[in-house]
Amino acid sequence: MPKIKFCEIELRNPLVLASGILGVSVELLNRVADNGAGAVTTKSIGPIERHGNNNPTVVEIENGLYNAVGLPTPGYKNMDEEFKRWKEVKVPLIASIYGSSIEDYVNIAKYIQKYKPSIIELNISCPNKDDGMVFATSPELTKKLVKAVKEVSKIPIMPKLTPNCDNIREIAKACEEAGADAICAINTVQKEIIHPKLKVPLLAYGKGGISGPIIKKIALEKVREIRKAVDLPILGVGGVTYGKGAIDMLKAGATLVGIGSGVYFRGMDVFKKVNDEMKNA
Ligand code: DHB
Repeated sequence: MPKIKFCEIELRNPLVLASGILGVSVELLNRVADNGAGAVTTKSIGPIERHGNNNPTVVEIENGLYNAVGLPTPGYKNMDEEFKRWKEVKVPLIASIYGSSIEDYVNIAKYIQKYKPSIIELNISCPNKDDGMVFATSPELTKKLVKAVKEVSKIPIMPKLTPNCDNIREIAKACEEAGADAICAINTVQKEIIHPKLKVPLLAYGKGGISGPIIKKIALEKVREIRKAVDLPILGVGGVTYGKGAIDMLKAGATLVGIGSGVYFRGMDVFKKVNDEMKNA
């Protein structure tokens, strides 16, 4: 397969481990690389130590996963040991970061760039924290944030967008106008699912985000919308589990294809499997 360029980074194939699936440890990220991923994304790194939500935080639903993990993080200042080992990761590493304010994102981006991730993903679209989607639902705030991070970062910046907004094209345009280098879309689809018999929320947090095959149609539609609105390269994420889904995502306008829940449904070697399926399609 010819090499792929994304934000001036070369990838051996378009498949990327999506954020949040396998933490930030070099061992796990390299297992994904050994299983065929073209690049890997870390779990989102936050400003200060945070424990996440109470259990249950993840349940399987029909054709998907439903989670409200709640962004657990040691906090970026307590992660130098992990960061120092990022250079051992065998494929390009995308560092995902989150915060509650522009200052949080700026501080984390400034701090981690010395560890030379290939791209910094701005997670502005987490449904599992009270203020998790504040930025990605407002073009004005998204623009301010991306501009501020661009001013301090030598590393390419890729905001991750939510489908739970009024107009994803406007958010994508705000990213482009502010100087973003790429867009990642979509994050999980926010829902409140109630247990049909027990009449209580399925997750302790009350609501959560849906991923997996059940959201593939939404993801493809949002990527198509973004493709029409901006020229930025897109990392398309959402429900891709098989080669056909990956090809659909590329046809929708993505340059790279994220796989997250697919690791749960098909195993760590889902990247090898999907690469093979794409070649044989
Ligand atoms: C979590 C969920 C997300 O969808 C996300 O983008 C980041 C974090 C979580 O609950 O930990």
